Amino acid sequence: MAILVTGGAGYIGSHTCVELLNQGYEVVVVDNLSNSSRKAIARVEQITGKSLTFYEEDLLDYAALENIFSREKIDAVIHFAGLKAVGESVQMPLEYYHNNITGTLLLCQAMREHGVKNIVFSSSATVYGRPETVPIREDFPLSATNPYGHTKLMLEQILTDLYTADPEWSVMLLRYFNPIGAHESGMIGEDPKGIPNNLMPYITQVAVGKLPHLNVFGNDYDTPDGSGVRDYIHVVDLALGHIKALQKMEGRPGVKIYNLGTGKGYSVLDMVSAFEKASGKPIPYKIMPRRPGDIAICYADPAKAREELEWTAQRDLAQMCEDSWRWQKNNPDGYGNE
Ligand code: NAD
Ligand code: WQD
Repeated sequence: MAILVTGGAGYIGSHTCVELLNQGYEVVVVDNLSNSSRKAIARVEQITGKSLTFYEEDLLDYAALENIFSREKIDAVIHFAGLKAVGESVQMPLEYYHNNITGTLLLCQAMREHGVKNIVFSSSATVYGRPETVPIREDFPLSATNPYGHTKLMLEQILTDLYTADPEWSVMLLRYFNPIGAHESGMIGEDPKGIPNNLMPYITQVAVGKLPHLNVFGNDYDTPDGSGVRDYIHVVDLALGHIKALQKMEGRPGVKIYNLGTGKGYSVLDMVSAFEKASGKPIPYKIMPRRPGDIAICYADPAKAREELEWTAQRDLAQMCEDSWRWQKNNPDGYGNE
């Protein structure tokens, strides 16, 4: 079976390519490298000892997509490609809507032209907006507070409408919680450009000496220690969730929605101590005001994925921290250091 992985050079995409190749799938990647490196592809091949087909192309280029679907016999698509920085999406809404929405529309159009009707889509816990209670179930109300979140909500709707119009489509909407960690080899991992927005890459850059201290955004939330609580999930567990989704969708049209999280919540200060323990490095921090738009607590009810996909996250917080640290320590400048 050949799987087209859009955004396959990115953080979650590269880890998913490793697991796909390990399980014997043929992998075709399309990525414009706007937020990633070709080196990630080479490392995926090194880790697995297998090769994949890589197209450095933009989803906004329909002729390029046409060419890929004509040349490759694709059975299903895992669609990661997109812009993902919440703050940037507020500053650059047109770029976010254009890239994420138009890119997906063109992808789906090319899929339809070539009779490929199986898609696994990267959605996000951000679609739950400000949940009233936790743990968060898939049937909770949906909302968005920024353009990035709106693109995820809109794309969930667009893919659902596609199935309504043509019930041969099989659509898996996977709502990720907070992916962290890296492949245990330390050869691939998250490589943010500039100063990281997200907690774990910020912590690892403090540990390696690139940033002086962590800013903890708020210690006055209604949580056990006052800092924000999230459901951190190891990126390899997340990658394996995609393979379960592919297996379950085979021959079963419909739209299915799953949370991919662990069901456990950890605070920012929990993360600091877990990371210090795993790395042996002190993480100095300063308490700062709350970050606008943040919520106090967010964690998944992962029961539906456990029951229907037969998937649960296996890797604990210690392993997430150890693997994030191995990647950062071995690659202090990410993929840019070779
Ligand atoms: P990433 O930026 O590392 O990977 C996305 C990849 O898509 C990059 O390699 C980028 O170059 C590529 N890309 C972007 N626009 C493209 C286009 N027009 N054409 C071709 N390639 C394009 O991000 P990630 O963390 O791996 O996230 C993957 C997906 O998961 C995204 O859709 C993101 O919104 C979603 N998601 C991520 C998180 C997270 O915290 N990392 C959480 C929830 C959902
Ligand atoms: C986690 C916690 C921060 C950085 C984002 C997106 C979400 C999804 C995952 C894509 C919060 C605190 C952070 C720092 C801090 N992405 N923090 N200092 O905000 O839960 O989710 O990424 O879909 O849509 O919004 O993740 O890692 O930014 O923050 O104190 O320097 O760490 O306040 O409590 P978040 P995060």
